[in-house]
Amino acid sequence: MKIAFVGKGGSGKTTISSLFCRYLASKNLPVIAIDADINQHMGTALGLSTEAALEVPPMGLEINRIKEYLRGTNSRINSNSTIIKTTPPGRGSRLIKVQEDNPIYSYFQRNVDGVRLMATGPFSEEDLGTKCYHSKVGAVELLLNHIVDKQDEYVVVDMTAGADSFASGMFTKFDMTFLIAEPTVKALTVYDQYKQYSKDYNVNLKVIGNKVEDQEDLEFIQSKIGNDLLAALGRSEYVKKMEKGQHLALQQLESENKAVLDLMLSEVNKAEKDWENFYKNTVEFHVKNAISWANATAGEDLALQVDPEFQLRPEKVLS
Ligand SMILES: Nc1ncnc2c1ncn2[C@@H]1O[C@H](COP(=O)(O)OP(=O)(O)OP(=O)(O)O)[C@@H](O)[C@H]1O
Ligand SMILES: [Mg+2]
Repeated sequence: MKIAFVGKGGSGKTTISSLFCRYLASKNLPVIAIDADINQHMGTALGLSTEAALEVPPMGLEINRIKEYLRGTNSRINSNSTIIKTTPPGRGSRLIKVQEDNPIYSYFQRNVDGVRLMATGPFSEEDLGTKCYHSKVGAVELLLNHIVDKQDEYVVVDMTAGADSFASGMFTKFDMTFLIAEPTVKALTVYDQYKQYSKDYNVNLKVIGNKVEDQEDLEFIQSKIGNDLLAALGRSEYVKKMEKGQHLALQQLESENKAVLDLMLSEVNKAEKDWENFYKNTVEFHVKNAISWANATAGEDLALQVDPEFQLRPEKVLS
């Protein structure tokens, strides 16, 4: 299952996505954590030291390694430079299983207590707003296009809720999207925008309230969100201690907050994978991106990368 954590800046995406990854690992479930945010904090939230977190190889800077591998023998791709974030797999492309050895995992992944962390890498102010920035965050989208995960394997992505993920097809990659919302008007505006953008794409969106201190906070979120609200975390002493540099065992997390993680997992497990829709959306956004900017950059028609004979049938790969 591919799971996204989105929400307003500072809402708690990194905190909750990292707790969720540690929770999955504590159940011995296979989990890949991908830090796709502009500010990279997942490594430390999972328990790495600042120095160790900086040593996780940035996928964005070495995207060519990823392109080279995924491309395989796909004859519709003329060179790595014509692969963009939305490029879909076709015949000859390499699909990636969650549990396998491959050069991408062995180069980019770091194991943090059972959570397999990968990171887009940090972005400088200079990168932002440039094509360079887009190609860096694109590493994650390209990878997700090629990952064939099973129902009981988890790929958790810590994202920004920015408009970027709507311009590309990033927001359509997930079996479950958790939107983290504090009880504030701004946080709930982000929810409205997300709902609006994603309404035509079968996005499975659930809201997790965060830093909810009392009944009034909860009712405030409920009144704006209704059925999409799955659960709410309170202000956590455990999280506060982690922020102060203490790395505590997950068993010490407050029981009511641990219950929220239980609920999140059961909601994810209820979701049904829809590969046909996944691939259809990948193709749709690829063609859109090709026309709107990428053809001009590449000097060729990148819509031709779509292989009409190809079907994404993970059951073939996974059997
Ligand atoms: N339930 C909680 N209880 C106490 N503190 C919390 C809780 N959730 C998050 N925080 C604190 O709020 C701050 C922001 O959280 P976090 O970094 O997870 O948010 P974010 O959405 O990832 O932010 P950014 O948009 O900057 O990436 C952190 O200091 C974190 O420790
Ligand atoms: Mg964050």
